[in-house]
Amino acid sequence: MRHLLDTRTLSRDDAIRILDTAEDMAAAQQREVKKLPALRGKTVVNLFYEDSTRTRISFEAAAKRLSADVINFSAKGSSVSKGESLKDTAQTLQAIGADGVVIRHPASGAPERLARSGWIDAGVLNAGDGTHEHPTQALLDAFTMRRRLFGSGAGVSDASGSRGRDLDGVSVAIVGDVAHSRVARSNLWLLNALGAHVTFVAPETLLPYGARDWPVKIHHSLDAALRDERPEVVMMLRIQSERMHAAFFPNEREYARNWGLDDARLERLVDEAIVMHPGPMNRGLEISSRAADSERSTVLEQVANGVSVRMAALYLLLSGEREASI
Ligand code: CP
Repeated sequence: MRHLLDTRTLSRDDAIRILDTAEDMAAAQQREVKKLPALRGKTVVNLFYEDSTRTRISFEAAAKRLSADVINFSAKGSSVSKGESLKDTAQTLQAIGADGVVIRHPASGAPERLARSGWIDAGVLNAGDGTHEHPTQALLDAFTMRRRLFGSGAGVSDASGSRGRDLDGVSVAIVGDVAHSRVARSNLWLLNALGAHVTFVAPETLLPYGARDWPVKIHHSLDAALRDERPEVVMMLRIQSERMHAAFFPNEREYARNWGLDDARLERLVDEAIVMHPGPMNRGLEISSRAADSERSTVLEQVANGVSVRMAALYLLLSGEREASI
């Protein structure tokens, strides 16, 4: 692996390699092996041009648990606010000797630009770019689904073969503001590669342009989707009001009534169903507090699993000889 830029071009084999490596990382942490020496002497830079809580902290924890040195760079308070370009910032990181750059950027395609530019030798990990992709979020979501649906240790070979390595036949409903969601896009491509059946549930104004040409079922009614698709995974998305034009958004009461996971809908989920949310959550809008805090909810497991998945990604990218591409 050289860079991790998206899940659209990530092969099923590479995805499963990351998920299985994340199982090893999780197992090491359960054995109280908090710190592994794998990236000793390497430098990882967290380059964040947009706000983040979970992703930035999780990448920092992951790199430190692999014994890497970590430099946190936030565009706010840096020379970016004086107009410094991505190229000049990248060349500064090259001069510092960065081995890995974790980048979050409001512009779709910025991580790929950095990776392909030749400005920097480091491995690039996309931590969310515009409305394009958020690949490690999708990987940690898939990891969480594997563990919840097939048990921890999913993906580890046993006498029955490979059950639980992928998500073959699992029904996943992704609900809400799909139009602005890089999480939804990364999940769609990854879940398809892993054999899951994905349904988007959203008002027409919150579906991305071109979604009807993607490998996904579309429902406008959450009640109909829950009844017809009987999803084992219900992934609620944050309403991204900061990216939204008022014309696209039904009023909040109407949105919660039609597309929110409220207490009544929570009761109607199939027995084994889990409820996911990438965070941060708008409680009472896209998800009720009861749903967010219920036993079905994986919200905090997703955060915890994110560290193992990001450890796996950093390890595969930065340890030893890097391969030509992923
Ligand atoms: N899920 C996610 O990307 O959260 P943050 O914006 O807090 O990183």
